[in-house]
Amino acid sequence: MTHRVLVAAELKNLLEPAQLVDLDITWIAGAEPTPKGDWVAIVPLLSRWVGGTELKNLPQLRIVANCAVGYNNVDVVAAEMRKVLVTNTPGVLTDATADLTWALILATARRLIEGVDLVRSGKWSGWHPEQLLGLELRGRTLGLFGAGRIGQAVGRRAPAFGLRILYTARTPKPEFERETAAVRVDASQLLGESDILSLHVPSSPETKGIINGKALARMKRGAILINTSRGDLVREEALARALELAHLGAAGLDVYTDEPAIHPRLLAAPRTVLLPHIGSATEDTRRKMAAIAVANVQSVLSGKPPLTPVY
Ligand code: NAP
Ligand code: GLV
Repeated sequence: MTHRVLVAAELKNLLEPAQLVDLDITWIAGAEPTPKGDWVAIVPLLSRWVGGTELKNLPQLRIVANCAVGYNNVDVVAAEMRKVLVTNTPGVLTDATADLTWALILATARRLIEGVDLVRSGKWSGWHPEQLLGLELRGRTLGLFGAGRIGQAVGRRAPAFGLRILYTARTPKPEFERETAAVRVDASQLLGESDILSLHVPSSPETKGIINGKALARMKRGAILINTSRGDLVREEALARALELAHLGAAGLDVYTDEPAIHPRLLAAPRTVLLPHIGSATEDTRRKMAAIAVANVQSVLSGKPPLTPVY
């Protein structure tokens, strides 16, 4: 028996025919609105909103298999009310995203973009003892706002750079603490003591806008903000202002509130490294994400439980 499913067209090249057996797929491109019809499953990208209207327009839907670990693009309450399962892709992208976070930490701390721009401008006049001085990592404090899979993976890479680790999470992480000597603190201490603050909480009603003007003002002068989680954790206007006033030393961002648009003041702000949401963008990881999303669909449509439900 074949099942009618909607799958993001951008995943086509990442999936193998064997993963798609028994599926009658309608490929939907990112720019296309979610159609109305009798599809029983949807595999959206994180950029597609699946809310009350979409769920109403897909009355036969049994599963939303999001191709991302973050699922703030899905109205999970509306899905639960309609008895539609929601799954995500945890774990397989943890290392890729932690590595990218470190790329941003190093790029901001050591002013890589300014260095590249200088070389390319043809204005570099040779080695100078005070040129592009950055932040020495050894002995500094890395603050992890959220210490789940990715936050901990970022933390596990930190002792090699001689960083002290502080973290904030709802529950203590004893094994992580044993491995890395990380110390759990409240948000206020985290903001006040971090030389580098890296965000790893999901976007939720509790976390939206946590890095607002007040939080930024509590951060140390010259501190670096890194965000590879979700753009709406940060009030972008306030961040731009903190950079313009040189209160913050730098910001390394992979995610934005209104992707792919970037707040114009943030685009123009000094000492930023701005990436186009590529945290999980390695070939291996993207294949694994697509595979897990479709495997969730196959499992549910064959009457088994979902592999990675979000609740
Ligand atoms: P995770 O394992 O679920 O970790 C989330 C962490 O956030 C947990 O430590 C959790 O605390 C903490 N947390 C949740 N709500 C909180 C709150 N209100 N206050 C304080 N801490 C809170 O998720 P993950 O796999 O690490 O992924 C994290 C996020 O990264 C995703 O949601 C996604 O948005 C983002 N992401 C981005 C990219 C990219 O391409 N840039 C790639 C992958 C993921 P407890 O453990 O105590 O519950
Ligand atoms: C990417 O942003 C993800 O949540 O997987």
